[in-house]
Order: sequence, then structure tokens, then C-alpha cells
Amino acid sequence: MKFFLDTGSVDEIRKANELGLLDGVTTNPSLLAKEKKPYREILKEIVGIVKGPVSAEVTATDTEGMLREGRDYAKIADNIVVKIPIIKTGVNAIRTLTSEGIKVNVTLCFSPTQALIAAKAGASFISPFIGRFDDISSEGMQLVAEIITIYDNYGYETEVLVASVRHPMHVVQAAMIGADICTMPYAVFDKLLNHPLTDIGLKNFLADWEKAQKQ
Ligand code: G3P
Repeated sequence: MKFFLDTGSVDEIRKANELGLLDGVTTNPSLLAKEKKPYREILKEIVGIVKGPVSAEVTATDTEGMLREGRDYAKIADNIVVKIPIIKTGVNAIRTLTSEGIKVNVTLCFSPTQALIAAKAGASFISPFIGRFDDISSEGMQLVAEIITIYDNYGYETEVLVASVRHPMHVVQAAMIGADICTMPYAVFDKLLNHPLTDIGLKNFLADWEKAQKQ
């Protein structure tokens, strides 16, 4: 499974990239708005660090506006992926950008039918939002399982990108179900490697070793 970072913070991207585990980045208007720089500058910095797909989301809600913003984002670098919300006006934008060779990540997906339409329109990625489902006492990961079954049934190549991840168990569940990608905040990424028993075990091994050296 590929690891993407869901952030607009260049510092977080640099830190995660140091381990060589970062396969891509997703941003959204809320994440970029938190940063104190123009969005284009941030995206340029990100593509300078990450070789994999970097998603940039349109803010227009009409097809022409989405196409204009999407084409403009695509000029920043070859690995820019345009993020389009799954609404009626987005469907032709997905199809047109895809036909122009621009990859599209379809976002704000909350149902299997939305995911099916995204794949039919030619999306490269579908982003089901898991945490926001869990927030309203629903089982977000069930949606991921349904999308994977549907895509497998028809051989769609759209990659399932699990988004709105809140904790490491979402990453585990996404991997168990066989999702292609999990995009996560840096705080979640940073927890994936940690285990208190590893730390205790290492501490004890080193203490025993030191004791033996002294004897
Ligand atoms: O980038 C889209 C998604 O991952 C947002 O997550 O935490 O705002 O629900 P969240």
C-alpha cells in the first residue's frame, strides 16, 4: 500500500520524506489555507520534494472553472493530480482533463455510486472520506470495501485512495481491505512505526549488553 501525506505543510512533507516512505501528497483548500504562503508557491515546493502524485484541488464549482483551474495546476509539474469534487458539474471536468492526459483525483466521495461514476468518467484516483463517516457514527471503512469490490468486478483501474484518516487503525484497516493508497496527516504517519514494547525491548537488550561488557 502506498503512503501519501495529507497536508499543505512543506516541513511535514520534508520530515516524512526523510524515511523514503512517502509515495505522494494530497492537499485540499482547507489545508493550504492554513499555510502562510500563496498556494502556487507551496505546490511548487512540494513537487520539488515529492516525485509521486501531488493532488491540488479546484475551488471552482462550474465545469469551465474546474477545467481552467485544473489545466493551470497541471502546468506546475507533471506529477500534479487535479482534485475534483464528485458533483454533477465535476463529471465532465473529470472526463475532459483525463482525455487531455491530466490525472484526476475525485474527492469528497461518500457513496459507492459516486465512486462508480468517478471510475466511468476516467478518474485516476477515488478518495473515500473515512473519518468523516466515523465522526457521524457510521462505518467509513465499509465504503472502501464496497468500492474495491465494484472496481474489481469491472476491472476499473482507478486507484482507491483512503482519505480523512484519523489514526493508525484506519491505516491498518485500509491495508487489510487492500486499498491502493492511504493518505494521512503527519501525526498519524509519525505513529505508524512506534511501539512501546519495541522501546522497552531495545532498552533491556542494551542494558543487558552493557552489564555483560563490565563482567
Ligand atoms: O484531503 C481530504 C481529506 O483527507 C480530509 O480529511 O480530516 O478533513 O476529514 P479530514
